Amino acid sequence: MLQDRIKELKEERNAIILAHNYQIGEVQDIADYKGDSLGLSQKAAKSDADVIVFCGVDFMAESAAILCPDKTVLLPELSAKCPMAAMITAESLRAEKEKHPDAVVVCYVNTTAEVKAESDICCTSANAIKVVNSLDDNEIIFVPDKNLALYVAAHTDKKIIPWEGYCPSHHFIQRSDVLTVKARRSEAEILVHPECKPEVIELSDKVLSTDGMIKYVKKSKAKEFIIGSETGILYRLRKENPDKRFYPASDRAVCPGMKVNTLDAIVKSLENMEHKIIMPEDIRVRSKQALDRMLKVGRDD
Ligand code: 13P
Ligand code: SF4
Repeated sequence: MLQDRIKELKEERNAIILAHNYQIGEVQDIADYKGDSLGLSQKAAKSDADVIVFCGVDFMAESAAILCPDKTVLLPELSAKCPMAAMITAESLRAEKEKHPDAVVVCYVNTTAEVKAESDICCTSANAIKVVNSLDDNEIIFVPDKNLALYVAAHTDKKIIPWEGYCPSHHFIQRSDVLTVKARRSEAEILVHPECKPEVIELSDKVLSTDGMIKYVKKSKAKEFIIGSETGILYRLRKENPDKRFYPASDRAVCPGMKVNTLDAIVKSLENMEHKIIMPEDIRVRSKQALDRMLKVGRDD
């Protein structure tokens, strides 16, 4: 069985498998740790494994490699990409900084190492408000997710300058999608990810990162939930809460990059030690400053 082979290879390589909450079920099932972007970065930073197989998308594996220069970080499938991270380059961010010389840059972790290297501090969906409010500065260029930027702007007195990026999987969840499910499931609580549009966020009972949703559902007295996020998270929510019911706000909210890692790809990755995340040392060191600064702030949810 592929699961047995993975176990064998993990021991041979002294490897751990980290999987994001949007990964396919069988990948989540063999992971040593499942989590959101912040949780996975924290886990990578603390791990004493020699090899980290990162089952997520490119920027997540890159963050692990930035934080763990002494470890080998492997991304099983090179096509595991985040389209939002591709919506900003270091060059375009430098041009934006020139337009706002007094502003500091907060960058969502869904960015390349080069963009992180141009930023003052990173954030994730689990700590964006806390990160922004931790700064002494009043003017903030917030990249690349405009929806997250608008959500943060509504919870701070600081001036937020948003970038025009977005997550296709979350941005195209419509208000009408949520209202249609709610009409049939009137008792359900609505949980949404902050990458959703403001008019969708407005309908929600709670705005949470993916780990925030996992934690909230366990504590909540509600029995039914409408989930405004990538549909992969429903696997974990259902598995860990068999007595509760979960409905996706939209079945179309699927992130293709999150679905390419398979058990086969993990076996190949560990057998051939592929694909190693490698970057120029100066970029790694500069981007690490922004990530380390974020890790000191901790979680919001
Ligand atoms: P989380 O950090 O909340 O898991 O979100 C990551 C992501 O890519 C959401 O689309
Ligand atoms: Fe990127 Fe959206 Fe996919 Fe997350 S769900 S990895 S933000 S495209």
